[in-house]
Amino acid sequence: MVQDFQSIVGREAREQIQQLAGRLPDVLLACVGGGSNAMGLFTAFLDDKDVAIIGVEPAGNGPNPGEHAATLTYGTPGVLHGMKTYLLQDDKGEPLPVHSIASGLDYPGVGPSHSFLKDIKRVKYVSATDAETLAAFRELSEVEGIIPALESAHAVAHVIKLAPTLAADKIVIVNLSGRGDKDIDYVAELMGL
Ligand SMILES: Cc1ncc(COP(=O)(O)O)c(C=O)c1O
Repeated sequence: MVQDFQSIVGREAREQIQQLAGRLPDVLLACVGGGSNAMGLFTAFLDDKDVAIIGVEPAGNGPNPGEHAATLTYGTPGVLHGMKTYLLQDDKGEPLPVHSIASGLDYPGVGPSHSFLKDIKRVKYVSATDAETLAAFRELSEVEGIIPALESAHAVAHVIKLAPTLAADKIVIVNLSGRGDKDIDYVAELMGL
């Protein structure tokens, strides 16, 4: 249901990039918490095999339980809220504590479509740390004048790593799932401003 509601994002992105660039993008990127903004962008491109699709999870402060919320990176299959999906869980199947600099990403589960897309290897899932995310938040704000939500800044953090490895003519779409105005006070505090 969420995928359907959000899929307008991907349908419009697909149409607009073809108008602007005359072709489909080479790479799509979106942050993954519960997974809705990412599915919104990804769905329209899933059948386009030449489009690489990357979901970026919150690596937080480290790989230990309670330090991150990177469900598809570190989780195992389980059941939460009645859905079978990858989960950060203990040996009794109870959700583990999670952490992310972005409040919208600190969730121990993920929408099951992402689990499927990981298993069939259609989407690659990577992660960005709190520190990388904060740096990306700052860089996009300073260079483009766009303040991304801390959630979205995870996707920006990965494109900052990825772009220098790509040829200059490659087209990358990064989903900015929200504005960072809501995060400004917290970011200022973290940066000691
Ligand atoms: C701006 C923003 N982006 C992303 C997310 C993460 O959710 P999802 O992965 O379902 O898009 C949230 C969650 O609150 C959010 O507020």
